[in-house]
Amino acid sequence: MTTTIPTTAPTTTTETRELRVGVVGLGFAGSTHLDAFTALPGARVVALAGQEPARLQELGTSRGVEHLYADWQDLVARDDLDVVSIGVPNSLHHPIAMAALESGKHVFCEKPLAVTGDLAAEMVRAAEENDLVLEVAYNHRRRADVAFLHDYLRDSPIGEIYHARASWLRRSGIPGLGSWFTDRQAAGGGPLIDLGSHVLDIALHLMGEPRVVTASAVAYGELGRAGRGGGGKPVSALSDRPFDVEDFSSALLRFDDGSSLQLQASWASYSKVHEDIEVELLGATGGARLHVDDYSTDGTLTLYSDVNGAPTVSKPAVHVPSGHHQSVIAEFLATIRAGEGASAPRYAGHHGSYALHRSRVVDAIYESAAIGREVEVQGEAR
Ligand SMILES: NC(=O)c1ccc[n+]([C@@H]2O[C@H](COP(=O)([O-])OP(=O)(O)OC[C@H]3O[C@@H](n4cnc5c(N)ncnc54)[C@H](O)[C@@H]3O)[C@@H](O)[C@H]2O)c1
Repeated sequence: MTTTIPTTAPTTTTETRELRVGVVGLGFAGSTHLDAFTALPGARVVALAGQEPARLQELGTSRGVEHLYADWQDLVARDDLDVVSIGVPNSLHHPIAMAALESGKHVFCEKPLAVTGDLAAEMVRAAEENDLVLEVAYNHRRRADVAFLHDYLRDSPIGEIYHARASWLRRSGIPGLGSWFTDRQAAGGGPLIDLGSHVLDIALHLMGEPRVVTASAVAYGELGRAGRGGGGKPVSALSDRPFDVEDFSSALLRFDDGSSLQLQASWASYSKVHEDIEVELLGATGGARLHVDDYSTDGTLTLYSDVNGAPTVSKPAVHVPSGHHQSVIAEFLATIRAGEGASAPRYAGHHGSYALHRSRVVDAIYESAAIGREVEVQGEAR
């Protein structure tokens, strides 16, 4: 009898097998996830859930999704999914992620990870205990201008960064007065948790992930409570919901390395802004500013330095294509595939702990605003 000895290592089918995805949510987030997973090789959306029957049918048919559900529970109960992707109101992130992780599925979750840090911590723990990937849609840090700044800062060209300002400010853009967005129980908060968490993420990412140790904050809801600031959009049919979130907040955050961040977020304010995203870094030998005016895609970066003693301003020409969700989802899929070929534990460092820290910071900001003094940001045992 002859035995054939393979001359190369056998290829594993797991490394290239198609990942089966279930998407929950049909709004901006859910449909963006659906399109991103559909466009990427190596993944297939086989199940979709959402509570708008006509849209569910329309998306299911046009994207070729086989299994359609009104409720997330029926989707997560499937035993043939590798991934559950969550694009639903914030308070549902936790129950859906927990059910998915505890039944062995990787999770891609919209920001914020959860409505409180404690719930976010449970999600991270479930991802760790089950050795699964928990990734969060901090898509704005994948903007090409943010990536450019991140690369630029690698060799400290602006010296030690001692302070930063980060803001996402709208003149009149409360998302759905009377919808889940303005109901604290469903959303966890207003523009801070909705928009501020994105610019907080960008600032921490650019500054090298310092830990936030304290927050001193204020929050107001003057416009929203009076029914103003909705940008002329009709008040939702669910308008018996309360407006019990802020429409503006401002916080001073202190970091463990002595540096600090002024963070502001508004859905509505009587000010010159329209839809303004800004992150400004002040360094010992230079500065850098990202300013996205009404989702502009060019001319967003400015660098400040001294050249031969003369104050100098430069404008890197970086174009920002769309598709940041697709970038983070592509990374998420690549992480899962890389782990499939590895030995356990396969996914250390990919359990969402960085997003948990952002949730702890958001908690501290709301607590500080509520009690009127500086509070400590809760840390995790390491
Ligand atoms: N990363 C970003 O840029 C970005 C942008 C927008 C929204 N978001 C986040 O995405 C999430 C959803 O926001 P949105 O604007 O898409 O909201 P949305 O209100 O437009 O859509 C919510 C969807 O959740 C579905 N849903 C609610 N309860 C459900 C249930 N029990 N079972 C199944 N489906 C259910 C609804 O049917 C709806 O399709 C939020 O967490 C929000 O913060 C992120």
